Amino acid sequence: MGRVAGKKAFITGGAQGLGACFARMLASEGAKVVVTDVNSKGAERTALEIDAAFPGSAAFCHHDVTRRDDWENALGMAAEFMGGVNVLVNNAGVGGWGNIETETLEGWRRTLDIDVDSIFIGTQMAMPYLKASQPASIINISSVAGLIAHGDMLAYNAAKAAVWMMSKSIALHCARAGYDIRCNSVHPVFTRTPIIEPLVALGGGGKSGEDKLTRQIPLQRLGEPEDVGYAVLYLASDESRFITASEFKIDGGITAQ
Ligand SMILES: NC(=O)c1ccc[n+]([C@@H]2O[C@H](COP(=O)([O-])OP(=O)(O)OC[C@H]3O[C@@H](n4cnc5c(N)ncnc54)[C@H](O)[C@@H]3O)[C@@H](O)[C@H]2O)c1
Repeated sequence: MGRVAGKKAFITGGAQGLGACFARMLASEGAKVVVTDVNSKGAERTALEIDAAFPGSAAFCHHDVTRRDDWENALGMAAEFMGGVNVLVNNAGVGGWGNIETETLEGWRRTLDIDVDSIFIGTQMAMPYLKASQPASIINISSVAGLIAHGDMLAYNAAKAAVWMMSKSIALHCARAGYDIRCNSVHPVFTRTPIIEPLVALGGGGKSGEDKLTRQIPLQRLGEPEDVGYAVLYLASDESRFITASEFKIDGGITAQ
């Protein structure tokens, strides 16, 4: 029996990077997974690859997380494919680079729309499904940028801090209502996925760009997607049944400094 055998996991932003890794790890431990992304081709690729390894375990759906109609469609499709939804991984997100003098209102709104509003809309729409398939777990992917600031990450800092606190509010509501639905946030540091490529480029690209990032991390390396995946696996499983309203820092020690 796998650690998440019988779980029904809905993972946004699963075309690549962390979301694809979470889907693979959850399926390898016995979950059914539905991978969604605005990049349908990528989501399809992830699902096909997983389904080849674990037949019948994975499906995909086109899904722009900023759109209510897409959420409705994707959740309905997922519930049908998996027989319900009891793990929601709000992972889709975008970075943002700009300070208080350079950020545009358009850029600010886009970051908040994709990284924060989507989690409000989607989690609210997923609640009936989660309530119908308890015990359930909501896992929101925030960032160390939700806990510590950078002068050039104005919108991203604000967005990821909102995800952190929103997760606690969701958790407390569910607990008070007597639902067996937990909600926690995960806070990775720089992890090897396409989202950090602009940061590596800013530092001169290649190895020297990566070195600039790793120098800030006490453990002296970038995160790997699996480092974050193990936290998601734990939070999706019943091993974490007493954990709610918590934040999991997967950060090589950076936030301790
Ligand atoms: N990799 C890191 O260093 C790191 C660190 C901290 C937090 N995070 C967070 O982890 C999450 C995953 O990031 P990643 O590193 O895998 O990045 P990534 O860019 O590789 O993947 C993000 C995915 O989200 C999808 N996406 C973007 N906008 C979308 C939308 N409107 N609707 C649906 N899907 C959309 C993209 O198509 C992409 O597949 C993000 O929330 C990110 O902020 C990443």
